[in-house]
Amino acid sequence: MNQARLSAIGMAVPEKQVVNSFYETLIDTTDEWIQSRTGIKTRYHTEQDEFTSHLCVKAVQDMVERFQVTLDDVDMIIVSTVTPDQPMPSMACQVQHRLNMPRAGAFDAYAACAGFSYGVVLAKGLIAAGTHQKVLVIGADTLSKVTDFSDRTSCVLFGDGAGAVLIEASETGNIGDCITGANGESGPDLYISGFAETIDGQPLKMNRTIVQNGKKVFKWAVTKVAEQMRVLAEKNGLSLDQIDWFVPHSANLRIIEAICNETGFPVEKVLESIVDYGNTSSASIPIALSNGIQSGKVKKGDKVMLLGFGGGLAFAGTVMEW
Ligand code: ACO
Repeated sequence: MNQARLSAIGMAVPEKQVVNSFYETLIDTTDEWIQSRTGIKTRYHTEQDEFTSHLCVKAVQDMVERFQVTLDDVDMIIVSTVTPDQPMPSMACQVQHRLNMPRAGAFDAYAACAGFSYGVVLAKGLIAAGTHQKVLVIGADTLSKVTDFSDRTSCVLFGDGAGAVLIEASETGNIGDCITGANGESGPDLYISGFAETIDGQPLKMNRTIVQNGKKVFKWAVTKVAEQMRVLAEKNGLSLDQIDWFVPHSANLRIIEAICNETGFPVEKVLESIVDYGNTSSASIPIALSNGIQSGKVKKGDKVMLLGFGGGLAFAGTVMEW
């Protein structure tokens, strides 16, 4: 079987920084509440004429600058997003065109906050099958475009961002066994409405913004992720104390702390992006990993567990060695 190697990474966020005090002018909330209930200090929002495709391109450019990789032989582009500039054409096709990758196939994958991890699983599979050699995986979202700024229980959470990785065929692969799974029965607990007015007969709020049952998602995330961390470690022949860094989707710092509490995994060994960027959906894992690598925290040979979870409800993960 051909081996897959994650060899380069980059990230991008918009320039406009949004601090917690901004929400104090909009809704009944405080900086103290936001920080203590979510961990978030700040996040970045796109301008009106700035979209997910722009962040995708910036994240890839950051990766190219930092790792001096070439893109002209990329043969597949996978963009994970739930906030494309438009439903069609895909963001992946826009990236293919703007960054000039003539040989690349291109499509978007759709798994909300688990989407980047699904992209990595897919890229590994394409390389293992021998059909592709160099796959660009991007996780990018502009949740500020689908935020209900009058809903104080959700609007403070979301930020915009993108992260990109290159996954190549190599004699020395560094992406281990993967997990994927879903609890589709909980779809109505976290959605953005589209054409249909119901899910499984349950009426939806038809405002095209994120609607969530925060408490249910919180509980599911803690239980499911704690369980799947153990499954994923075992699948890779490791115990949790052999994992150097855990990179879960950054939805809420309290979710991360509760998962650590549940599993005994040290919270100091978590790479998060929630505090400085908010919940950036598909981008949260690659942003946290990118910063962990750039800051020198993640060293060559470190074992890093990636585990995305979110809308669907769905999850996916893997263990890689940097
Ligand atoms: N400011 C002040 N008070 C608030 C705010 C706010 N922004 N939001 C809620 N409150 C109030 C509530 O009204 C409630 O008041 P009450 O007791 O008088 O009714 C009180 O604070 C506590 O509310 P809870 O809902 O119990 O707050 P909780 O601690 O559960 O935090 C939160 C809410 C942050 C939403 C949390 O449940 C959470 O993070 N859930 C997970 C959400 C998530 O991960 N979503 C993923 C979406 S992204 C994607 O997948 C695309």
